[in-house]
Amino acid sequence: MKIELSVLIVLSVLPAVFCTLTPSKKGQKGTKNPYDQLKVKEGPVDTERDLVRKDPTIKEILVENAAYFINTSLRNFENHVVGFVTPWNNHGYDVAKIFTNKFDVISPVWLQIHRQGKQEYRITGTHDVNEGWMNELKKNSLQRVKIVPRVIFDKFEDDDFAKLLTFREERQVIAKLLIQTCDIYKFDGILLDVWSQITLRVDDPYLFEFIEDIAKPMVERDLLVYMAVPPRRKHLHDHFTPAHFTHLWKFISGFTVMTYDYSNIRNPGPNAPYQWVRDSIEFICPNTTKNYMQKRKKILLGLNMYGLDFTPDGGGAIIGHEYLRLLRHVKGRLALDENDEEHYFDVKTPTGRHIVFYPSLYSIKKRIDLAREMGTGLSLWELGQGLDYFYDLL
Ligand SMILES: *[C@@H]1O[C@H](CO)[C@@H](O)[C@H](O)[C@H]1NC(C)=O
Ligand SMILES: *[C@@H]1O[C@H](CO)[C@@H](O)[C@H](O)[C@H]1NC(C)=O
Repeated sequence: MKIELSVLIVLSVLPAVFCTLTPSKKGQKGTKNPYDQLKVKEGPVDTERDLVRKDPTIKEILVENAAYFINTSLRNFENHVVGFVTPWNNHGYDVAKIFTNKFDVISPVWLQIHRQGKQEYRITGTHDVNEGWMNELKKNSLQRVKIVPRVIFDKFEDDDFAKLLTFREERQVIAKLLIQTCDIYKFDGILLDVWSQITLRVDDPYLFEFIEDIAKPMVERDLLVYMAVPPRRKHLHDHFTPAHFTHLWKFISGFTVMTYDYSNIRNPGPNAPYQWVRDSIEFICPNTTKNYMQKRKKILLGLNMYGLDFTPDGGGAIIGHEYLRLLRHVKGRLALDENDEEHYFDVKTPTGRHIVFYPSLYSIKKRIDLAREMGTGLSLWELGQGLDYFYDLL
């Protein structure tokens, strides 16, 4: 990716130059998009398509992306699969309904914990709980799929975390509240997304007690507890170490490792370089660990369903429908960054220049194969952001 990166650096220091390169509105008048006439497929198709390629044509992506193989119960990946769904992206709810049987766990991003005062907490976000949709997932999977909402600790100040990490009574109140919430809404458990906030604050024994005091009472009641954990970052402390994993893996149902967002607008490039994903997983549970293949089943390699769009002004995340809109300005085929195993394109549109990294069937297949090889599961962030034909690979 060295050449492209230098282009991106030039791009970010010389935005004005690129602005002048964009065609004027007048020049655009009457121009037809060459892809306008394509017959686009949508919904279930009854042929198994073999579309995983290193150099897919833009035309093929535009034609095929919204169609999927009719038997959505067919599983191509044997290990544990978690899919996140967010209330701000409705398409994810549909994807979860269509492909229910390709998932073991669906984690809707619904819940927040707030601290109100001494030993006083409140759960918010329950207005997002969608019981009709939950029932459909249960029915589609003959009750097999688990629904495990994500929980974050919202608006916690340093002092709130200090209290929580110091006093067992505080943690017990949270455990009780979470159990109540699972009972009321018939959740199968929760996914705790707090590790990044508490790690490095205190020594490991305090972190372990924190997680144990919340998780163990839940596990005793047959509720599942998953944890979101950060990947390895260069030049940063390791937030989730082999010691953490070794201590926690027995009673935690699974760890969703957020192996994405490797690059950002200050440091443009691929979203989840292949080797970095591998290193992140091997770091947490190296093959020198006793029974490592058994333990790795609880590690869920994070797959991004969104991409990154770099523009002269910065850019940001890009999701399926935005990607398809930009793709219509690209000619020929996607380029592959062979080193990082991600597809990208570099295009000038009437509104400016974009260099976009977004998942492809090929890049996802590569990472699914990697998960299989390493013996891990998968966690997908998040279902509504991907293209419908991606799920054929699961
Ligand atoms: C779909 O796939 C599942 C799982 O492999 C299989 O049991 C089922 O028979 C298939 N359904 C059809 C209609 O082929
Ligand atoms: C163990 O992992 C290392 C990389 O971390 C790899 O080079 C080595 O081949 C692996 N050994 C086995 C037996 O899988």
